[in-house]
Amino acid sequence: MMIGIPKEIMHGERRVAAIPETVAKWVESGQTVLVETGAGLGSFYSDEQYRAAGAVILDDPAALYAQADLILKVKEPLFNPEKNCSEIDMMHAGQYLITFIHPAAPANSQMVKDMARRGVIGLTLDGVPRISRAQNMDALTSMSTCAGYKGMLMAADELSKFIPQIFCAVGMIKPCNVLVIGAGVAGLQALATAKRLGAVTYAADIRADAAEQAKSLGAKVVELDVPQEIAVGQGGYAAALPGEWLEKERKALAEIVPQMDIIFCSALIPGKLAPVLLTDAMVASMAPGSVIVDISIDQGGNCAATVPGERAVVHDVIIEGIKNIPGMLPTSSTWMFAHNIYNLTNYLMKDGAMALDLQDEIVKKILVTWNGEIVHEGAKETMGLA
Ligand code: NAI
Repeated sequence: MMIGIPKEIMHGERRVAAIPETVAKWVESGQTVLVETGAGLGSFYSDEQYRAAGAVILDDPAALYAQADLILKVKEPLFNPEKNCSEIDMMHAGQYLITFIHPAAPANSQMVKDMARRGVIGLTLDGVPRISRAQNMDALTSMSTCAGYKGMLMAADELSKFIPQIFCAVGMIKPCNVLVIGAGVAGLQALATAKRLGAVTYAADIRADAAEQAKSLGAKVVELDVPQEIAVGQGGYAAALPGEWLEKERKALAEIVPQMDIIFCSALIPGKLAPVLLTDAMVASMAPGSVIVDISIDQGGNCAATVPGERAVVHDVIIEGIKNIPGMLPTSSTWMFAHNIYNLTNYLMKDGAMALDLQDEIVKKILVTWNGEIVHEGAKETMGLA
């Protein structure tokens, strides 16, 4: 089988889907690995290191896409201005693609339709279930760890104030207040990072377990009082709240939002659109110079004013909607990502070739397009096809 590793084309993306160590393991087991020239440079891996690991280095992404049976990528397929076509246009029927597709996000609906139209078999990393046997394949957990840490550092960097309490000759500067909405993997890492920086931390989550974990990291918990039978769905994940509960949550948050210097948005329902928890009016209620980092933007965002992929200033509040925060921590994030995708790919292969067991729980959760059809439930729901 030929495995293709293209260079990522999203602006500022420094990660790559394979490192020389994982390439060498594939080559040893009989696979051919094609790596685009310069694909690893952002993570400090040279073409020579890939070549030494046994990879074939290709200059032209079109040639790589044409030859590979399986494409491994970090970010979803995008328009390639140098080739004047989208990455999907370079793909062919029966070819496998493993990456973060975020198929339920409306912004990705056309891309998912294009994948189905071309007969590409799309597998999305954000679908890997959080079950024990999938832990070492779970790139979302790895990347959420990176996004929680680096995202909070970005917020601190944007903020025009000290985060910790500071005593100086003219008086005392109070520590800043940080609210994390959605205390999952990313949110807990963000809380821990903010605490280490000296902030007073607050957390809001509809799952009692998550709130408890936030408390153990020293955060004050915003009481949302959502009954657990409504808040928790299948597999212990959060469930999508009915409209009236979302409204109650927004009201509870609106009371403390004006006192916050940083709000970190990481509330997510797996495979669904992210709930909108901060309205434009709530943003306007914050002090000028406050910062919101909305990392749920791949699923549509938790803040109504977030601009996908951009840094925006709305009502004098800085809102970060950047989509590839882990790409700004490339040494750590690429190392984690490359191992996760190596483990997942090997899990999906039999006798050296891709062999999907459509009854398998992991396959069911990650499969987006198959036989020219869109099969992902969240994507179908977003497109009104469910
Ligand atoms: P997770 O599933 O571990 O955590 C999400 C949390 O949100 C859960 O604890 C859940 O209970 C909570 N939640 C759900 N609905 C809520 C509501 N209405 N109010 C409050 N809390 C609610 O997810 P994880 O892995 O922490 O990811 C969080 C987000 O970060 C996702 O949207 C993910 O795609 C994104 N992400 C973004 C990156 C970027 O570069 N922008 C990189 C990595 C992850």
